This record gives sequence, structure tokens and C-alpha cells, in this order.
Amino acid sequence: MAMDPQPRPRSPLTAEELAAVRRPFRGATLLPARTYHDPAIFAFEREEWFFREWICVGREEDAPDPGTYFTLDLVGEPLVAVRGPDDRLRAFYNVCRHRGTAVVEGDAGRLVRFQCPYHAWVYDLEGTLVRARHMEDIEDFAPPEFGLTPVRLETWGGFVFVNLDANARPLPESMGDWHDHHARQFRRDFSTLRRAARLEYDVAANWKIVAENYSECYHCPGIHPLLNRLTPYDLGVDFEPTGPWKGGWMPLAAGCETMSMDGLRHGRPAISGADEVDQGRIYYYILWPNLIVSVHPDYVLTHQAWPIAPDRTRVVCDLHVEADALARPGFDVSGAVEFWDLTNRQDYHVVELQQRGTASRSFLAGRYSNQEASVHAFDIMAADRYAMDGRRTAREQRTVVENTRTTNRKAAAPS
Ligand code: FES
Ligand SMILES: [Fe+2]
Repeated sequence: MAMDPQPRPRSPLTAEELAAVRRPFRGATLLPARTYHDPAIFAFEREEWFFREWICVGREEDAPDPGTYFTLDLVGEPLVAVRGPDDRLRAFYNVCRHRGTAVVEGDAGRLVRFQCPYHAWVYDLEGTLVRARHMEDIEDFAPPEFGLTPVRLETWGGFVFVNLDANARPLPESMGDWHDHHARQFRRDFSTLRRAARLEYDVAANWKIVAENYSECYHCPGIHPLLNRLTPYDLGVDFEPTGPWKGGWMPLAAGCETMSMDGLRHGRPAISGADEVDQGRIYYYILWPNLIVSVHPDYVLTHQAWPIAPDRTRVVCDLHVEADALARPGFDVSGAVEFWDLTNRQDYHVVELQQRGTASRSFLAGRYSNQEASVHAFDIMAADRYAMDGRRTAREQRTVVENTRTTNRKAAAPS
């Protein structure tokens, strides 16, 4: 694909701004406020991060059988993922090679071939152009060279990832120890999960503000009184990754079984692999840049923060459970869905206020409290990537409050 003619840009942040974020967190400042507002920085993130890194775009269940497909908008790029007759999931730009029309309409469906709605060029499910009327005497036109433009697609744990950069490292390599961590921590991946519910939000804030909000519970006593009763805000442990992710866990309070309106599971079974220790914890992760995963005793919640504009983000929140639990008669996760809808709305109210305040000329960059090492962990993943100097800043973790399976205590330099 001839898609990479541009020289790599320079860092959009100054050396001083980068150094201030990359200090140990008690001495660090937050990302400069303009990173939440500046259209040039938004364009940099789109080009350098969302178009060059592996981005989760859905679940394998979204195209389960040969001929099923789903379309997506990857920060403005129209794509389609389709399962071929060989059962392999592939992704393409959803762009006809004739005059650029979107070949597929709608969010999802089933087809036997792609037929462009404009002049009816036909592509098979592997993207090959198989019919183009009145092109037979056109000079330098070879149909095999005019297939749908492919996009790299790989999966992990049922999650579908795409990467627009043909030269990117394979997904497992680029995840660092994400895969090993989950294999060790949960003795499983997430491929047996199925989506039980979806919540969507149009948030008037920058996508990184959404991610930072998710990364701390300093705000929980005031903003989430119910959540704070289930998982007290000041208890928890951060992991020490060597990959492009951050994470940790918080203990459930005595008598609480999960995150839901009444803190109870009402007979919902534990997700597979969750032992007694896991059933007393909520695990929180962000896989760079925008896949947010929380592992609960009986369900896995994901949030994805999709940048729309510097000050606008679409958040998609999915609740996943084991496929066999979902199939049981009377299975009900409404108490958990209601809990997260309440919690999400509480969060998005304050992040919208933060978006407005950080636009003020009076505000340059804030400071972290000692409850926000995990916000810093997200911000240095951003700062390291703004810097474009190949350096990976070491992180500091929140201190241990309980025994943990993960005993590695050394500072880690994530990739
Ligand atoms: S634009 Fe697709 S066939 Fe003409
Ligand atoms: Fe929150």
C-alpha cells in the first residue's frame, strides 16, 4: 500500500513540557492543557497513534459466520471487517476503487460479495475485484490490482484489532506482556465472553480526559458514593507492566459480590478462570490507547473512548459475560448495567466540566495527588509517544494494601 509518503513529524510538545510529565509522579505535572484542545495535537494523535498502532474495533462475535461483516469508523477512516468463506476475518477500507464510494452501508449484516452501490463494481469477500463493467479496453487497468485496499487485522481473546500501518509489529509483539499478564492473572483470555449489553455516550471532552478519569478513584467519594461503598477509593494495587498498558485492582468491600446497584450477583456465575481471590476484586486496565477493560467477578466491562474532535469523544461501554451464562433462561445483568450507566454519567458530567475549565488561558497543567499514580501512568504513555525519542519512562505504582499474586516490585519501563 502506498500510504506512507510523509516524513515523520516532530513532537508537538516542547522539551520542557515533556520533561515535566516524565518526572517521577510526585514531582510531575499533568499533560499540558492544550493537548486536550489543540486541533494540531488532535491531528498528530490521529495520524501517529490511531493510524499506526493496533486499535481494538470490536469482537469476533460481531462477524461470527462466513459472509457476516461490520463497518466501523476508525477516527474518520471508513473500514469494513468481513469473515471470508475460509472463516478468516479480514479488514478493508470501505472505499470503492472506482470513484471512492463507500461500498457497504449500515453497521453490520451478511453478504455473499461486495457490490458498490454506485456503478456496481463487485468484490469478493477476500477483497478481489471480480466484476467491473465497461473497463475491458481501459489502458493500464488490471482488475487484480484494483481490489479493496486491505487493512491488517489480528485478534486477542475475541477482541478484533486493526492497524492501518502495513509496517507495524504484529499484535502480540506490540502488546508487550499484556498477553502473559492475563494468562498468568486469570489463566485464560476473553474469547469465551459474549456481549450482554451496550451503553453509548457522546461526551463533550477530549478522549484522554476520559481515560485519565477512568484511571483514578480520588474522585470516587464525592462523585460515586455508591461505587465508593463497594470498592473503597483508597485501597488497591497497581501492576507493573512491561507493555503499552496500565492496570491494577481494587478489593470489594466486605459483603459485596460485584459492582451492581446492590453489590450482589443474584446467582450469576463467576467468569471462567476467576478464583476466590479474583471474586473479591475488580481489575482495571487500559491497553494503549483506548481499550479500557475492567474484570469483575461475574462480567468483563469494556469502555472505548473514540476521538471525534479535540473536545468530543464517543464512549462505547460493553458488558461481556460467559457465553453459556448468557444463554441461561432468566439470566439478568440489569443491576450491573444500571450501576455502570449511573457511574458513567457521573464521570462524564465532571469530565465535561474539566474540558471547559482546561480551555481557560489561566490553566496550563495541573499536579497529581498521591492517589493518581495511575493517571500519571497513562499520561507518560502519551508523553513518551508525543516525544518520539524512543524512550520509555519508568512508572511508579500505588503501594500494596493486601497480598497479591504479582510480586514483581521493581520499577518497570513499559513499551
Ligand atoms: S464508485 Fe464504486 S463502482 Fe463506481
Ligand atoms: Fe469515576
